[in-house]
Amino acid sequence: MPDGHDLAHHGDAEVGPGLVDLAVNVRAGTPPAWLTERLTASLAALAAYPDATAARDAIAAAHGRDRAEVWPVAGAAEAFVLLARALRPRRAVVVHPQFTEPEAALRAAGHAVERVVLGGDLTLHPGDVPEEADLVVVGNPTNPTSVLHPAATIAALARPGRVLVVDEAFADTVPGEPESLAGRTDLPGLVVLRSLTKTWGLAGLRVGYVLAPAELITTLAAAAPPWSVSTPALEAIRACTTTAAREEADRAASALREDRDHLLAALATVDGVEVRGTAPAASFLLLRTPGRTDVRDALRDRGWAVRRGDTFPGLDAEHVRVAVRDRRTMDAFVEVLREVL
Ligand SMILES: Cc1ncc(COP(=O)(O)O)c(C=O)c1O
Repeated sequence: MPDGHDLAHHGDAEVGPGLVDLAVNVRAGTPPAWLTERLTASLAALAAYPDATAARDAIAAAHGRDRAEVWPVAGAAEAFVLLARALRPRRAVVVHPQFTEPEAALRAAGHAVERVVLGGDLTLHPGDVPEEADLVVVGNPTNPTSVLHPAATIAALARPGRVLVVDEAFADTVPGEPESLAGRTDLPGLVVLRSLTKTWGLAGLRVGYVLAPAELITTLAAAAPPWSVSTPALEAIRACTTTAAREEADRAASALREDRDHLLAALATVDGVEVRGTAPAASFLLLRTPGRTDVRDALRDRGWAVRRGDTFPGLDAEHVRVAVRDRRTMDAFVEVLREVL
């Protein structure tokens, strides 16, 4: 538990019977029936070992990359572990507040981790990251802050001799993915991680993928256990990288943006709470209640599960993360929050 932060804590530990779940960031109502049907059909091939070729081609086509530049993983979480095991960074830097598994994986592999902790409006300035850092991990959009850094800011962190890992697990919650670097092949050492967990409701399947220069993919692949991505997971990649599926994800992202704007407007009428970060862009908001560290428990007592903030480096118990749901749910939540405050 480095510096008292429980890096292994996750939102799913906060949900429980009888609680409205605003703690987990997986899109509600997922996976869609058409996807479940495709996954079910893929079970007919379970006797054979998985063959990732078609899934790699599908990822490559979706992002305009070569097959050699993509690698399926058992969730972005597996990629953090592979990177930590395969790379030998002399100075690893993780930009916080962000998802804690990258730092946990680096530490578990024996690497020292330096933190760059963003404050104030959570804007990232390329100069915040030490020049000597040869491994940098940043989330975009970032969990738990919902901040979407401009592509140019992230790109400015890339340089020869450095591996720049951009966790884009939530990129498809942003309509049009304007700040995604997934298709960029001009940036040295750029590793982009994608996940099918959030938008497609596949947390239990374990599926995502890595986009990186071919030589980095070769390094990662050498560290990967054989067949760690199952046949149904590979089928999910094929199903979710089609043009139709990507359009469906984009429509969901647009609907999410409207629900989030609705929640932001409602929160603006509540005294004692502020939204951290300018222009939140993902499927959740980071809320701060100055002077109040009991809000999570008080909400819980009233039947609402939100994700505690204090396990994230750079945050404290005045913070909670709240998933954006439909307007009726959000209106009810805001009234309970008003009462608590
Ligand atoms: C920012 C971020 N990256 C990665 C992950 C892990 O995703 P996966 O389920 O693909 O391992 C999560 C899950 O909470 C996350 O929030």
